[in-house]
Amino acid sequence: KKPPVRVAITGAAGQIGYSLIFRIASGEMLGPNQPVILHLIDLPFAMAALNGVVMEIQDCAFPLVKGIVATDNQAVGFKNVDYALLVGAKPRGPGMERGDLLKDNGKIFTETGKHINEHASRDIKVVVVGNPCNTNCLILANQIKDIPKENFTAMTRLDHNRAQHQLADKLGVHTTDIRKIAIFGNHSPTMVPYIDQMTAKNHKATVDQQWVSQTFIPTVQQRGAEIIKARKLSSAASAGNAAMNHITTWVNGTSESDFTSMAIPSDGSYGVPKGLIFSFPVSVKNGKYSIVQGLPISPFYQGLLDKTIKELVDERNAVDHLLK
Ligand code: NAI
Repeated sequence: KKPPVRVAITGAAGQIGYSLIFRIASGEMLGPNQPVILHLIDLPFAMAALNGVVMEIQDCAFPLVKGIVATDNQAVGFKNVDYALLVGAKPRGPGMERGDLLKDNGKIFTETGKHINEHASRDIKVVVVGNPCNTNCLILANQIKDIPKENFTAMTRLDHNRAQHQLADKLGVHTTDIRKIAIFGNHSPTMVPYIDQMTAKNHKATVDQQWVSQTFIPTVQQRGAEIIKARKLSSAASAGNAAMNHITTWVNGTSESDFTSMAIPSDGSYGVPKGLIFSFPVSVKNGKYSIVQGLPISPFYQGLLDKTIKELVDERNAVDHLLK
């Protein structure tokens, strides 16, 4: 077996944490030969609940768990951490404006950025899950001085997985048969599920354009809201699952016949302003992702891309004071 790696989860006492931590502990994210030391971070008021989670992890007697650090102190929480899943964030309360949400979370992710910069492994891989995840990641990465910016990403894998399911259902195949689709843009209702290169069972597959624009895209964009309506709680198990998928793919790579979606610092590809944390189709090899270039963008998709770009530029402008 390999030496253990340290995996930090913020918001560890929350509902995504509760579905995520046990699966990481069982080896689903990093594989059965990779022991882990869990770093569970939450706010002071949540320490009693977090202690309950710790007791449950202990009671699972996981062979791969070599230690647990449970803390509200980020300097301790991020010490030598190799992977961080940043789930904790301030939720949008009733009547709260998006601008206030951005500001409150801006403070959280500025703090976290400072601690990661100071204490974490120089090779840390980070995925931001807490919303608004793209802009939270932008704020976080801005605090980082000597870790590569590419190591800071945000999660659109849930949107990718949701799209895969809708398409598999439509075409009557299994989700794993659907390849070469991607989410472009913001993790928000402006996200762009792109399917013009889709294959099903390794053959080019098409679906009618009216279904794409009137059913498929709105369904994927609104799926989070649908789940809240049904469960009276936001998606947690599927969000935790996607966060694990994000890291697993980042470590193990994509297959030659496929790509995935990650929100990453834009290099200007597809006309996206440099530096925005933007979801792109990426292929991954040896722990490094690269943007899939040259996908044809129809006028229909360009119109959608322009909207999600504008939304992310507006978000960036709203937190400009945190990016100095
Ligand atoms: P939750 O409210 O059950 O748990 C959040 C936890 O984070 C709480 O225990 C809270 O105390 C903690 N927390 C808040 N601020 C913190 C900080 N500064 N440091 C450490 N911990 C902190 O929420 P849930 O359902 O687990 O969702 C968490 C986040 O994930 C939300 O922001 C939600 O919008 C987001 N989300 C993102 C998705 C995506 O696709 N990117 C999908 C689903 C949820």
